[in-house]
Amino acid sequence: MKVLVTGGAGYIGSHIVKALGEKGYDILVYDNLSYGHEWAVLHGRLIKGDLADKEFLKSVIQDEKPDAVIHMAALIVVDESVREPLRYYRNNFVNALNLVEVCLEHEVKRFIFSSTAAVYGIPQKVPVTEDTPLLPINPYGSSKVMVEHMLRDAAASSDFNYVSLRYFNVAGADPLSRIGQAREDATHLITVSLRTALGRKSHLDIFGTDYPTHDGTCIRDYIHVDDLSDAHILALEYLASGGSSNIFNCGYGHGYSVKEVVDTVRKVTGINFQVIETARRPGDPPTLIADSSKLRKELGWTPRHDDLEYIIKTAWDWEKKVSRQ
Ligand code: UFG
Repeated sequence: MKVLVTGGAGYIGSHIVKALGEKGYDILVYDNLSYGHEWAVLHGRLIKGDLADKEFLKSVIQDEKPDAVIHMAALIVVDESVREPLRYYRNNFVNALNLVEVCLEHEVKRFIFSSTAAVYGIPQKVPVTEDTPLLPINPYGSSKVMVEHMLRDAAASSDFNYVSLRYFNVAGADPLSRIGQAREDATHLITVSLRTALGRKSHLDIFGTDYPTHDGTCIRDYIHVDDLSDAHILALEYLASGGSSNIFNCGYGHGYSVKEVVDTVRKVTGINFQVIETARRPGDPPTLIADSSKLRKELGWTPRHDDLEYIIKTAWDWEKKVSRQ
């Protein structure tokens, strides 16, 4: 099966390409390399292209005739989306619209979409199930909801089928340290903590210690990027075997507080880096935990790395390798 992966040269995309390659899929990566890297594409072919360039996209899909598309390419920084909302709607929604239009025109009927827990906003109930109302609280989350709605409506009016995977907090790296988070400006807790441990930052800010959680800091469901990649393979197999459009949460179903993550980073690295407790970051829900029973039951997903120390260790090995280069 030939799979076109948009954003396949980025952090999560490159791990998905690795998983596809190990399974023997024919892979075509479509990436504008704004944040991705050529070296991160371990399997298949890379085509440098932008989804905004619809004519070029059309020529690639026409020539290559992929059997399925995994659409990863997107902007992902929440506070940036608040400052530059139109850039987010254009990149995340308009580009997805281009892609879906081209897919429908060229009979590409299987589509996997990288969605996010940000579609839920601040959920009333955790763990969060897929039927929780979509009430995003920032343009990033809204742009992803718009794509989900477009996919739902496109699927209802044709024989196009999609799976939307709503990612919780993706972390960790390839255990052989070939690929990992390569963005210098990454803002995610585990990456920032590890870079602080390496001395690349003076300290780590903990954003808010007065949340209604057991230690006052926010709780998140951290999922290893290789387990998330497995979910994509299962979603592809599901669509290939005739499965109809569906939505799945991707997380382990339990969470850790910011302070617990910091303690584990200190343990894994052996470095007692400085932490400063500071004000809340706007828009952070107190607790975000996936109910992933649907993914487990309906797609047979069995995570292999549900272990915070393993997640942090793989990311630590990666950060150390990058810092030596
Ligand atoms: N945090 C800190 N200090 C930091 C970085 C993060 O205290 O330097 C805290 C945050 O305030 C939050 C937790 O650590 O409480 C996790 O923050 P991340 O930035 O690592 O991740 P988010 O939960 O904000 O983001 C993730 C995804 C987003 C998605 C969002 C949904 O990365 O794409 O969940 O809420 F939009």
